[in-house]
Amino acid sequence: MTALSINVNKFALIRNARGADMPNLVNISKKCIDYGADGITVHPRPDERHVKYTDLHEIKDLTNDFKKIEFNIEGYPSDDFINRVLDVLPDQVTLVPDPPEALTSSFGWDCEKYQEFLTDVINRFKKNNIRVSIFINPSIKTLSNLEIIKPDRVELYTYDYARNYAVNKTKALASYIEVTEYLRKEFSQISFNAGHDLNLNNLEYLLKNIPTIEEVSIGHALVCDSIDLGLKQTVEKYKKITKK
Ligand code: PXP
Repeated sequence: MTALSINVNKFALIRNARGADMPNLVNISKKCIDYGADGITVHPRPDERHVKYTDLHEIKDLTNDFKKIEFNIEGYPSDDFINRVLDVLPDQVTLVPDPPEALTSSFGWDCEKYQEFLTDVINRFKKNNIRVSIFINPSIKTLSNLEIIKPDRVELYTYDYARNYAVNKTKALASYIEVTEYLRKEFSQISFNAGHDLNLNNLEYLLKNIPTIEEVSIGHALVCDSIDLGLKQTVEKYKKITKK
């Protein structure tokens, strides 16, 4: 089974459009949990255009009410981000190298260039018992120094897989298989998450071929599906795939 963490950023975007509290993010997150989500993910960006920093404690309080539900905060580890995450103490933090104005995360860490930076930041979170995942490209050559950096997990950036899935799904997955095999052999203590552009079409093939993926975080497609199918049916459909 793979955990389904629902990224609620896009619900927050709709809320923010009217400057009021509809939909209420805690209620929506609770519904996601009631319908089967194993966790809630947020990606607060410096301009707070989707999730706001004031949402973090409220979602943490919600996930605290459930024994097995995890809270994952993603973002670029600026000093401000680090302090806010340490204040909230989520179950997991996912470090992403995107600049403040990025539309969405679009590449993983270069572990050679950022070895020292990542090692320091990861140590700070680990000392506070927060599991740390780092966002990576499906490319072994970007993964040097992992023995020094020591993340608990890596999150596979699945944009390339999703983009190429319709053309040739075996080819689309090849670099992901290569990276996960490499990590399994060389760094068996590091486990994997995956995310970005996963949807009801491409998710099953990914998890069937890399069943060791611990968690997928899914936002955009799930919110789009719920416009069509409703939130309950949508979450149940994703959950049916991840729990296989
Ligand atoms: N993982 C990371 C690091 C992300 O930044 C995002 C988007 O915020 C996701 C996963 C989820 O991607 P999507 O919204 O395409 O499902």
